Amino acid sequence: MRRKGLFIFMAAALGAAAPAMAQTSTTDEIAKYRQLLADGNPAELWEMRGEELWKTATGPKKVSLEQCDLGKGPGVVKGAYVELPRYFKDVNKVMDLEQRLMHCRMSLQGLTREQATKTPFGSAGNPSDIEALVSYITAESRGMKMSVSTAHPQEKRAYEIGQKIFFHRGGAHDFACATCHSVDGQRIRLQELPNILNKTNAQAAYTTWPAYRVSQGEVRTMQHRLYDCFRQQRFPEPAYASDVITAVTMFLAKNADGGVYNAPALKR
Ligand code: HEC
Repeated sequence: MRRKGLFIFMAAALGAAAPAMAQTSTTDEIAKYRQLLADGNPAELWEMRGEELWKTATGPKKVSLEQCDLGKGPGVVKGAYVELPRYFKDVNKVMDLEQRLMHCRMSLQGLTREQATKTPFGSAGNPSDIEALVSYITAESRGMKMSVSTAHPQEKRAYEIGQKIFFHRGGAHDFACATCHSVDGQRIRLQELPNILNKTNAQAAYTTWPAYRVSQGEVRTMQHRLYDCFRQQRFPEPAYASDVITAVTMFLAKNADGGVYNAPALKR
């Protein structure tokens, strides 16, 4: 557990030092920790647990998820994530990874919707199977290029809805996603806000989720990232695995096309 010891030390150092540092140097420091941890991201533990969960027969039907079709055919995990969200003929709709995972857990394993969506976001002492499964599946696309299709009319429609949501202003502050994410070099406190309309930024943002979040001690999915952004936007909390999240994810994923996928990553 040498790596873990190093990690805890670094996390503590980061926590203690951050408030006193200037903005740029905080960013530099985070980059340094990231480098130090590059071969020891705690997300590996989530990936390993996810692989085990994927391969374990469970649920009323006592089967594993190994025959789940993530879009490239039953059982193909490698490269599936860089092509999601996508249209699935068997359900006649566009699904993102977490919707598809929920579908497989219900249809293959016989879980109820409630069981299949239990604990989407883990906390200390209450780990999330979903975060682990997503970590495993996404890791199997590491190093591959984002390649999301909008060729099917429903894929195109999901993209357009996502785009609409991105620019839709509302809530107590009259914010849209675009308020925080369509300008270069914008910041809130210490955080740099990616301009998602800029290709390079969009790629960097999308290809680094899920991520082990040092501040939360958990691997967080894109689903959680968006949930948190909707909260910052003072919008109502979106339902887990809703079509709204899938549409926004489609917009983000398509904008990241061509970027090399590199997650689960490590973030503040
Ligand atoms: C009030 C400002 C605000 C609004 C509105 C907002 N976000 Fe964010 N967003 C943030 C902050 C802050 C971060 C975290 C930046 C960091 O930690 O580096 C973030 C991070 C992100 C990231 C991850 C970027 C990365 O590189 O890790 C994505 C993707 C994102 N937001 C998408 C959205 C979408 C889509 C919406 C609309 C549903 C939205 N945000 C609305 C403030 C906002």
